[in-house]
Amino acid sequence: MTRAGIYLHFPFCKVKCIYCDFYSVADREYEMSRFFQALINEIERCELDTSPWVFDTIFFGGGTPSLLEPVQLEMILNTLYKKFDLTEVDEISLEANPGEAPFERLQAYRKLGINRLSIGIQSLEPKLLEFLTRIHNVEQVFKTFNDARRAGFENINCDIIFNIPGQTMHIWQRDLKIIVELEPEHISAYSLTVEQGTVLNQLVQQNKVAIPNDDYSAELYTRTQEYLSSAGYTQYEISNWAKPGKECRQNLHYWQIDPYLAFGPSAHGFDGKNRYNNARNLDQYLQFLESGKLPIESHYPVSEKEMTNDLIGFGLRTNKGIQLDRIQKNYVINIPEKWASYLKTENGRLKLSEEGFIFADAIAVDLMID
Ligand SMILES: C[S@@+](CC[C@H](N)C(=O)[O-])C[C@H]1O[C@@H](n2cnc3c(N)ncnc32)[C@H](O)[C@@H]1O
Ligand code: SF4
Repeated sequence: MTRAGIYLHFPFCKVKCIYCDFYSVADREYEMSRFFQALINEIERCELDTSPWVFDTIFFGGGTPSLLEPVQLEMILNTLYKKFDLTEVDEISLEANPGEAPFERLQAYRKLGINRLSIGIQSLEPKLLEFLTRIHNVEQVFKTFNDARRAGFENINCDIIFNIPGQTMHIWQRDLKIIVELEPEHISAYSLTVEQGTVLNQLVQQNKVAIPNDDYSAELYTRTQEYLSSAGYTQYEISNWAKPGKECRQNLHYWQIDPYLAFGPSAHGFDGKNRYNNARNLDQYLQFLESGKLPIESHYPVSEKEMTNDLIGFGLRTNKGIQLDRIQKNYVINIPEKWASYLKTENGRLKLSEEGFIFADAIAVDLMID
């Protein structure tokens, strides 16, 4: 039985944060209802044969999907339920921004079956929120978190970012402590990445902003690992920690190379053999659907070698490791001497030690098949 997920990308935000490379548009909320019709249309037109799969997760990502009116969310869910067999779905996540998800809306989402909320907290330091051009303040973080609990969410993720210019070790450790005291079921802690095409990248190129050096970043990461582990969270992926049984199973689908459907601009999916990418641009996405076409811009089979390298790259990022019996017999994973002490084989899986997580990307590159 192949388990599978569904991802829906909601491409609207109130403002575009300087560091963010995810596809979203600001100041175009007037297009939301047009987008919403197109999304419904895209789901109804899906041509993939999903009968061999068992869907168990749905993820509303963005962008800022917490801007969706409950009635719109309900229509999207109804369309999905009509189109696919979703009887086994028991994790439905939605990303919410602090201050952009009022209590009544959260309550309505919960009633519609959304049972996991991912809150984009980023930082609890006012000047760092300002640097990141976030439009929420610290009070709104607590309000949204408490509102989510009151609305009945028993599975909450907090997204936080380290390695922000100006973020001292003291600020980061204080933030971690406060987040842990909120007792979320899941914490995603990302190192700030300077992505091409972002305002942050321009600022760095113009020497107006300096990103902390690698040693400092590594120290922040190691302290994060130590602290979250002592607080009862298991690190199940490079940037993700969860209380027992609260891992994000949608994410696990991606990392285990399970199939997943994807809807919305810039979304990309995998049918078990082929990967496909939707048009990234909202106008193009709308044009495709409004002229009766699917918005798929590229569609390509995953070669055996690519699949093997995906299993290595994604597998190493997780605490489950690389499932060795999924590696084709004609490929051999060679472990360079310098990485040997960070790797272990257990129950047919090649895994990183906790200390090895920090080198996961470099190690994966060295293990991949040429
Ligand atoms: C694409 S956002 C969508 C959720 C929501 N709009 C928000 O801002 O919280 C998902 C998460 O990705 C992380 N993220 C986005 N860009 C990042 C970057 N350049 N470096 C590190 N983390 C980033 C943030 O923590 C964010 O919460
Ligand atoms: S980080 Fe979130 S709120 Fe900011 S632009 Fe990206 S998707 Fe939108």
